This record gives sequence, C-alpha cells and structure tokens, in this order.
Amino acid sequence: MHVTLRQLKVFESVARLLSYTRAADELHLSQPAVSMQVKQLVEKIGLPLFEQIGKKIFLTEAGREVFRYSRSIEQQINELEDTIGSLKGISGKLSISVASTANYFVPILLGTFCKRFPDVSVSLDVTNRKTLLQQLNDNETDLVIMGQPPADMNLVADIFMENNLVIIAPPDHPLSKHLSKQKPPHTQIPLKKLENEIFLVREQGSGTRDAIERFFQAHDIHITTGMEIGSSEAIKQSVQAGLGLGLLSHDTLDMELALNKLVILDVDEFPILRHWYIMHLKSKRLSTVAIAFKKFLLTEAKSILGKV
Ligand code: PGA
Repeated sequence: MHVTLRQLKVFESVARLLSYTRAADELHLSQPAVSMQVKQLVEKIGLPLFEQIGKKIFLTEAGREVFRYSRSIEQQINELEDTIGSLKGISGKLSISVASTANYFVPILLGTFCKRFPDVSVSLDVTNRKTLLQQLNDNETDLVIMGQPPADMNLVADIFMENNLVIIAPPDHPLSKHLSKQKPPHTQIPLKKLENEIFLVREQGSGTRDAIERFFQAHDIHITTGMEIGSSEAIKQSVQAGLGLGLLSHDTLDMELALNKLVILDVDEFPILRHWYIMHLKSKRLSTVAIAFKKFLLTEAKSILGKV
C-alpha cells in the first residue's frame, strides 16, 4: 500500500471538517485538488472512506481507522520536527509585531515555539493595525500578525486561522435572550434593531474598528457609538458594567463566556467572518527563524489553540 503523507494530511483535514470545501480552504488548495488526493487514497486503501447521505459526508468504519492513524502520524511528524529543529539548532532573534487582539493567543503559540527552539529569542510588539502597517513599511519587524491585509502594499499574507467578530452583551441585557448558542428555531435579532443600542468600540486605527465600520456601512446601518476604548479588555469590562454593547473578536472572549459574564448575541449577518494573517513585505528576506515560525503558525496554530 503506497500511501503518501500528503494524501493522509488532506484526508485528515476532510475527515475532521467533514467538508471538502472547508478542507480546501484550510489547506489553501482548490477543491478538485483535495478531491483528487482523497480519491487516490481511497484507491490505494481499496475501501470507501466516506459515505454521502444527502448533502453530508460521513466517515465509514475504514475512514475512522484511517483518520485515527493519520492523526497519530501527523503528531509523530510534529515530534520529528521538534527533534530535527533542536538538532539543526534553529537559533537567533525573531521579531514579531501583532495586532492588540492577537495578544489573546500569540503568547500561547510562542510558548510552544520557544520550547521547541530554546535558542530563539523573541521580541514581541503588541500594537494596533495602523502602527503595524507603519512597521511593515519601515521594515522594523520580521513578521506581522493581524486581520485583513491592506490591498495597497506589496505583501505576502497567509491565513492561518479564523477571526470572527461578534456582538457581546451582559447576560441580563434585554437582547440576551437571542443567544447564538440556542438551537433553531429561534428568531435572530434584525440588524436594524442595533440602531437602538449604544456600542462601545475600539479606537480609530484598530483593525476591529475598521472591519466594523465597513460592515455597517455596507449594510446601511447607523449605530450609535458610546465610549471609544483602546483595549478589548476594557471594552469587556464596560459591557459587563452595562455601559453598552461591544463588538470584538471571538478570540478575546474565552474567559468571559466560560464564566457566563458575557453572552454573544444572535444577530442577523453575524458573526462578521474574518481571518488572521501572517504577513511580511514581499521584498523581505526572512531569517531561518522567521521561516520556521511562519511554517509553525500555518501548520500548527489551529491545533495548538484547539480550533480544529
Ligand atoms: P486590532 O486588530 O486589535 O487592531 O483591532 C485586529 C485585526 O487586525 O483584526
């Protein structure tokens, strides 16, 4: 049986997401390329791995076995990379700048990366979108992590994770009976209703703020902004204090959602679907450490953060 690692990787993604389209997105491949890899794997194995019922696909018994093995092979390869990494002695300085919101997960990723490559020293700058673009332009950093890359800069920008924006409220807010966790059928809050609310928003220059403004403009909704606050943490506190509704990345909310201090409202057209990008100037010559970190992010960030 001549099965390739690539086939197993593609299969693992389709089997985990139970969708060819989503796997293609995740792997940055076209859907026909994904289908082809799975088809070749099925031919090699000689048994069907998926069955289709209606529009949905399910794993067959053989599919579940191959899924189990492909996950453990992937894990072994990561361990192999760890070992090779320390043998190769990837070392040196890595300078990264990240959007304020990315502060909620980048340190976790750096924890794993630095453990793997103990001779790497990292300098991390956390700032807002406007400053990040300036730093890219002035070649002051190796890599930048932020939302939507600007169209007018010559960048290499790769998606590594979703970054969805949601509306938050305190649990006792009148709109809080419309929760996105509730099972249908239930009524969503119409966008127009948001015009009666006050919103606490991030400062000008923030990527979150920028995305929100573009979204409401595109939907012809005029919201009232209360306080402008330069920190997601302070927005969450102010929403809990009843000063208004908040609009933040889902990535900032783990703790408050778990403790039931805030809820996500189920509003029509929400969440605003965005992504996290790792980027650098096209003309930038990346160091070995920067290349290693970029690869690490693209291949492992989601599983380390439990987003798979
Ligand atoms: P912000 O950026 O923290 O500046 O809002 C997040 C983003 O770029 O989406």
